[in-house]
Amino acid sequence: MAQFLRILGIETSCDETAAAVVARHEDGRGEILSDVVLSQLDEHSAYGGVVPEIAARAHVEALDELIEEALRRANVTLNDVDAIAATSGPGLIGGLLVGLMTAKAIARVSGKPLLAINHLEGHALTARMTDGLSFPYLMLLVSGGHTQLILIRGVDQYERWGTTIDDALGEAFDKTAKLLGLPYPGGPAVEKAALSGNPDRFSLPRPLVGEARLDFSFSGLKTAVRQAATEIAPLTDQDIADICASFQKAVSRTLRDRIGRGLLRFKQEFSGLDTEPALVVAGGVAANQEIRRTLQALCLEHGFRFVAPPLRLCTDNAAMIAWAGLERMAEELPVDDLNVAPRSRWPLDSQAKTLLGSGKRGAKA
Ligand code: KG4
Ligand code: ZN
Repeated sequence: MAQFLRILGIETSCDETAAAVVARHEDGRGEILSDVVLSQLDEHSAYGGVVPEIAARAHVEALDELIEEALRRANVTLNDVDAIAATSGPGLIGGLLVGLMTAKAIARVSGKPLLAINHLEGHALTARMTDGLSFPYLMLLVSGGHTQLILIRGVDQYERWGTTIDDALGEAFDKTAKLLGLPYPGGPAVEKAALSGNPDRFSLPRPLVGEARLDFSFSGLKTAVRQAATEIAPLTDQDIADICASFQKAVSRTLRDRIGRGLLRFKQEFSGLDTEPALVVAGGVAANQEIRRTLQALCLEHGFRFVAPPLRLCTDNAAMIAWAGLERMAEELPVDDLNVAPRSRWPLDSQAKTLLGSGKRGAKA
């Protein structure tokens, strides 16, 4: 094998257009040579959410230049890369088509292999690129479209231990913000408002707390927020702050219970592990300081290492797609045929059953 491999990665599954070049050295170390992300936040914010048609058009407009920029910043040409990796699911089908078709065209003209990557695998393996983590470990993915606790046994070996049965956590933040009149995306707005709020003023539900299964549910919490807000309307700034703080407290308590159980299960299943067990967090909600503190404290209690890759790599990017491709190549997993089709739904764990309502937006991961 060459001294190191380099892959061009492309990500277009939601509202970020991204391209990156990543290298994997012989010792397994990852090196990001370039990582370009163009957020479409401005295009979508007026609508209070991602509009699929607008997203697809924006990817078309930006992607080719972004790829050139990624190659330029990495100081390489297409000749220097060993493969092209593109997200081919799950996500918004229009965006996926743009990225995958572009990758196919590049693969075809350059004669390089194509890797059709599962976006969730990108999130799942990022901590190995950033922190050199070894298998197995647990990952909590908390974004606008997913809330999943996944056991990462190895490349291509994923077991979903828990998922949301209704709303994703980021979605719950966004909906809470919307009904309180806060701007989109809701997560940062709720977190900011919560700083000056009283977390004990409203007693909100902690869905599924105490249950043995490791799933999540957030729609009841959102309904309770609506009820609390309706009862005391019109809302003052202090009321909004208090609701946000109470909401975050309920979320933190819920995560404590659900993830705490997951950590115990991991310790039971891997009691003979000679490395420190680890919990990795990924997705936009991982930016939330209270949630981070909660998870950090929980890990400390259970003797887990808490790994939170830099936020830029926790949210959607193409470096993680290139890296997933590199990991797959290093394992000598098969590359993809140029006929491969994008998949709006594509669970990482093919054995896991679809839970009613979970990931129903299918838009964000
Ligand atoms: O991973 P991400 O950037 O995009 C995808 O979902 O693909 O996650 C976006 C989600 C949004 O729902 C946003 O409200 C939430 O992450 N988010 C936050 C915070 N920052 C972003 N949620 C809570 N607290 C935050 N500080
Ligand atoms: Zn994602």
